[in-house]
Amino acid sequence: MDVNDIKDRIECAAALAKVTTAEAAAEYIKDDMNVGVSGFTPSGYPKAVPLALAAKVKAGAKIKINLYTGASVGPELDGELAKAGAINRRAPYQTNKDMRNAINNDEIKYTEMHLSMSAQNIRYGFLPNRRGIDLAIMEVCKIKDLGNGQVGLVPTTAVGNSPSYVQTAKQVIVEVNTTQPVELEGMHDLFVPLDPPNRKPIMIEHPWDRIGTDYVACPLDKIVAIVPCDITDKTRPLGAIDDDAKHMGQNLVAFFKKEVAEGRLPKNLLPLQSGVGSVANAVINGLVNSEFEHLTVYTEVIQDGMFDLIDAGKLDIASGTSLSPSPECLKKFYANLDKYKPHLLLRPQEISNNPEVSRRIGVIAMNTAIEVDIYGNVNSTHICGSRLMNGVGGSGDFARSGFLTVFFTNSLAKDGKISSVVPFCSHIDHPSNDVDVIVSERGVADLRGLSPKERAVEIIDKIANPKYQPLLKDYFDRACAASKVAKTMDCPHLLDEAFSFHTRFLKTGTMEK
Ligand code: COA
Repeated sequence: MDVNDIKDRIECAAALAKVTTAEAAAEYIKDDMNVGVSGFTPSGYPKAVPLALAAKVKAGAKIKINLYTGASVGPELDGELAKAGAINRRAPYQTNKDMRNAINNDEIKYTEMHLSMSAQNIRYGFLPNRRGIDLAIMEVCKIKDLGNGQVGLVPTTAVGNSPSYVQTAKQVIVEVNTTQPVELEGMHDLFVPLDPPNRKPIMIEHPWDRIGTDYVACPLDKIVAIVPCDITDKTRPLGAIDDDAKHMGQNLVAFFKKEVAEGRLPKNLLPLQSGVGSVANAVINGLVNSEFEHLTVYTEVIQDGMFDLIDAGKLDIASGTSLSPSPECLKKFYANLDKYKPHLLLRPQEISNNPEVSRRIGVIAMNTAIEVDIYGNVNSTHICGSRLMNGVGGSGDFARSGFLTVFFTNSLAKDGKISSVVPFCSHIDHPSNDVDVIVSERGVADLRGLSPKERAVEIIDKIANPKYQPLLKDYFDRACAASKVAKTMDCPHLLDEAFSFHTRFLKTGTMEK
């Protein structure tokens, strides 16, 4: 590709002189740089320059960067750079197999960050080398001419942290992606808050409120390279909606109906936030056949279920930071942009996941757990306490600030060899204080206002699988008996057995006795 392929997407004549190859742009990336990129899920991330960097490192260049994204990104970035050994540090979230293995093999230092806080932490100088972003790479569908030596960078299918990275970086590389329609312009609302002590309230009262611009302003001087790219987003197919997921969706809808009937939720509910993955998507899909109308969404990732809700005429607006539909749904979106665009709004993750906003507008936070314990603590990230799965993502941003916080889990994992309800979570991302309701395919545990022991009875009864209920009940009863003697009855545990389900699984391959 060359300048001719993208010149109709670049309004500013002076910018055309900066168009170059991915290989030439990659020369600006030096060892130990803090590189901040656009993208969130496998959407809207730079592709050509990371591939050129990976090739250069594979050919012997001694470069290891510290890579800061919005969240997970596609294989051209996380996958290829991890395989090339080109990454020293990584934050704030990932889902790539090669990246995950490199982290678990101690080849990459990974730092979990709540997604709403990642851009501000970097601006505050909280990275280990106490520098901010040295170089930003942003995928755009268009470059506007703002005059006075400024250009406007129009994002594509995700915003993530790119406005803050571009604003604060010393140098910027822009990838103009020709597979992303220019008609995406107008779908974004970009605003970066000032830092304390100068921060002002974020003036969003409804998911459709706009408070910023639809481009990221950047001085042309700061842009060192503009690279044409025709590599598509590699969004992932979603798992089929199985019976368990259908039941979870039905359980949620029944719970919502009761909340509406008893006056704790309005008829069109409150803005929905829905997590990532197959389970979250299936649950949102459960709302398609429900009676709820004029729904609104204030979330981070917009998945297939939300497009289905738009098709069903049930969703007024979905505000997020990323469009992450399956490949088929992405095609449907591109082919019907005019229909979907009025219902979609993409913001920086600092705003989409902002606890100030979600507490104000009363988000219903719905995320998926890896495991929950009998007292209602939630593990979203680590298998058997140690092995990283993906990361906490935005679940913590919403769990504490939500009007109502719901976690989903199948009662069983790995063909029944694992109980998703355990005596004590092997890692805790969300303490029980942040968890109102847990939904499994078996039922709904409504934990609001309950004491720890009441929560244990509710969770074992409504959520746990019958296969593991006797073991859990036995643990709880014996913990209560021992605690009665020790007068520690608030939250009874047998410390030498609290992880016995996990240790049994690690030794025998099953949590069953
Ligand atoms: N013990 C061990 N493994 C478990 C498990 C458990 N209790 N529960 C689930 N798993 C495994 C599954 O077997 C599956 O493994 P596989 O990839 O080898 O098949 C994997 O975890 C994913 O589970 P799945 O049932 O397919 O659910 P999912 O795609 O909905 O993902 C999470 C579930 C928890 C991993 C995912 O939602 C996540 O990363 N959450 C944290 C971040 C987050 O909540 N972000 C949203 C904020 S808006």
